[in-house]
Amino acid sequence: MALVTKAIKGTQDLLPADSYKNRYVEQAMLDIATKFGYKEIRTPVFEHTELFSRGVGDTTDVVQKEMYTFDDKGGRSITLRPEGTAGAMRAFLEHGLFNEPLPQKVSYLTSCYRYEKPQAGRLREFHQFGVECLGTAAPAADAELIALGHSIFSFLGVEGLQLEINSIGCPECRKKYHAALHEYFESHKSALCGTCLDRLGRNPMRILDCKSPECGAIAKDAPKVLDYICDECAAHFETVKKHLDAMNIPYVVNPTIVRGLDYYTRTVFEFVSTQIGAQGTVCGGGRYDGLAEQLGGTKTPSLGFALGIERLMMLMQAQNTPLPEEERLDLYIASMGDEANVVAAKIAASLREEGIGVQYDVAGRSVKAQMKFANKLGVRNTIVIGDSEIESGKVTVKDMDGGESVEMELDGFEDS
Ligand code: HAM
Repeated sequence: MALVTKAIKGTQDLLPADSYKNRYVEQAMLDIATKFGYKEIRTPVFEHTELFSRGVGDTTDVVQKEMYTFDDKGGRSITLRPEGTAGAMRAFLEHGLFNEPLPQKVSYLTSCYRYEKPQAGRLREFHQFGVECLGTAAPAADAELIALGHSIFSFLGVEGLQLEINSIGCPECRKKYHAALHEYFESHKSALCGTCLDRLGRNPMRILDCKSPECGAIAKDAPKVLDYICDECAAHFETVKKHLDAMNIPYVVNPTIVRGLDYYTRTVFEFVSTQIGAQGTVCGGGRYDGLAEQLGGTKTPSLGFALGIERLMMLMQAQNTPLPEEERLDLYIASMGDEANVVAAKIAASLREEGIGVQYDVAGRSVKAQMKFANKLGVRNTIVIGDSEIESGKVTVKDMDGGESVEMELDGFEDS
């Protein structure tokens, strides 16, 4: 196939036959988040590269290997957003939202870009629904955030997702943990990939989520962060669990979750499925109490999660999760001849103003072909307008589901 008629590797089209499903799911997520007090935020698709290298962290796979970075014509280094949190925090700081009542709760639907090896559930352009709760350090917020994710999945009828939670502590606990990791990986140094050798000195925690199978095998037996967290972080984690228990949200503590982005502190979590292959994490998030300061802003303990739309849709498809039927068009007006076609256009214009869904012939087809088309569209009703209808001033409205046909006056049809 010619290059110009083939989408770029790792990207995909959402075709009209499926788009209503995504629209339904996305709207449901936004609506549920609204009920938790979240309001939508929209930030640019590209940002200064430094926002991500500082925010996401320059020892992460995302920043080191996966970013779509380029110089624009003004010589600035620009990056297509690999995720939504850094941009949301940048906007929060830039617009002084920290002066508003806290926490500020924002939600978003965005495309994200990562130069990863494409496979099922892993794309180079993908979409996230995300929420960020900015300006609270209380553990109740962590549990409420997780409850929001839980509510979304249960509203959509998605089953079999396991909620896994962990605490990765604060910078203080991190120092002890890094030392333990350093010692462990130092003894396996010869088997680590080049990138991880560099990480060993700078940020050994990132070795834990290296995608190389060799590093993964070594990382399996590495010390677990939960064994190194301080009393305050442990107390915070206990309160999060207490709230989850009180809300009847089932979870397992998975001490191996560290997440792939540097900004996380304390609570981290993932909703994981075993039904969509190796890329089973449908939703991931956690607390990031230090991000605002890392970006040069005022201290703003915060937390959030993002849910991969493509992975969610894959899972819903694998589970045959019922979705509402696509909305059907109310009426197709078939017309015979030029004069009737003009009448069809006139009626359609009036009906559309009243919010009724209408199509008529804009392809110059025969009545037979028009009716075939209407059938394929799955419209609820049809009328045919020809010379005799114009002469008699009457049309027959046919119910395409086999219901009764009704005769109506053509004059003022749109009002009846
Ligand atoms: P993340 O774990 O990197 O976290 O991504 C969140 C979700 O996006 C994943 O669980 C997955 O469903 C989806 N996802 C990630 N990469 C891909 C890909 N290459 N192809 C398809 N889907 C993908 C974040 O992005 C954080 N910003 C989440 C967050 C928000 N943490 C706090 N607030």
